[in-house]
Amino acid sequence: MRIVKTVRELQAVADAERVAGLRIALVPTLGALHAGHLSLVDEARRRADRVWVSIFVNPTQFDDERDLEAYPRTLAADLARCREAGVDAVFLPPAEEMYPAGDPTWVEVAGLTQSLCGAARPGHFRGVTTIVAKLLLAAKPHVAVFGEKDFQQLVVIRRMARDLGFDVEIVGAPIVREADGIALSSRNARLDPEARAQARVLSRALAAVERAVAADERDTARLLHLVRSEIEKAPRAEIDYAELRDPESLEPVPPRLSGPALVALAVWLRPAVRGSGPGVRLIDNRVLHPPNGQEDPP
Ligand code: PAJ
Repeated sequence: MRIVKTVRELQAVADAERVAGLRIALVPTLGALHAGHLSLVDEARRRADRVWVSIFVNPTQFDDERDLEAYPRTLAADLARCREAGVDAVFLPPAEEMYPAGDPTWVEVAGLTQSLCGAARPGHFRGVTTIVAKLLLAAKPHVAVFGEKDFQQLVVIRRMARDLGFDVEIVGAPIVREADGIALSSRNARLDPEARAQARVLSRALAAVERAVAADERDTARLLHLVRSEIEKAPRAEIDYAELRDPESLEPVPPRLSGPALVALAVWLRPAVRGSGPGVRLIDNRVLHPPNGQEDPP
């Protein structure tokens, strides 16, 4: 497995692979790799001849300095996982390689980034689109794979790639979950056992709303009420947002569902002792598909 540390070297390898007629897939990550990331590697393998993973804790997407410092860094284990998963190359740039000295050039998607996670985390998506644009220009992949776990991120990156004319296919891969339903995340390790148990309300709320839609409930307000009441069953859970949105535009859905709808959740798991920090913020989502033929007539 090749380790590449500079943009120039990665571009040279990409050019050589492309001349040889090989397809490159890139899986961008912040490291602290888990089975969710590895499922993206598997998806990448199905779609390309070369699978590259980037590991870079991108400072510009962290809106809170403490969050950046607390971010787990597990490089040796990450590299072992990549090797085991058959990754061909890992891009491991130092910060100054991705952000040369001086004021940075930003890539920003308007509109889509204002709501949901964008509302609570100003500047976050500008950091994400800027680094992903740089990674795409460095790796020149045919395909880049992102998780549906970060659904808004996927939608925003798709829009960026379309608007800037990136010659790359952006692929979304399903959420990988623990046996009890909780979505895998490097943040889960920061939950104490009680908070970890209560974090199950996110996936339970999603399952409840999915059942309701399957049973013909179409009323948006009632569906949202159901989501909220499921989450409120956990005393240490506090909703940041719980929304029903159009899965492409991320706009609010009409009062009666008439097509696919994204249920997007961000929930704080507060510390057991008040005043000992903000706790851990988890996100989860599911796209609801009202059964065919049940939709309201136009
Ligand atoms: P990171 O949080 O490391 O996630 C890397 C990729 O793994 C993202 O596409 C994310 O959606 C996906 N992922 C995380 N948990 C997952 C799960 N349980 N199931 C499936 N996929 C999962 O997202 C980022 O890094 C950064 O913002 C990045 C895109 C690398 C830009 O810095």
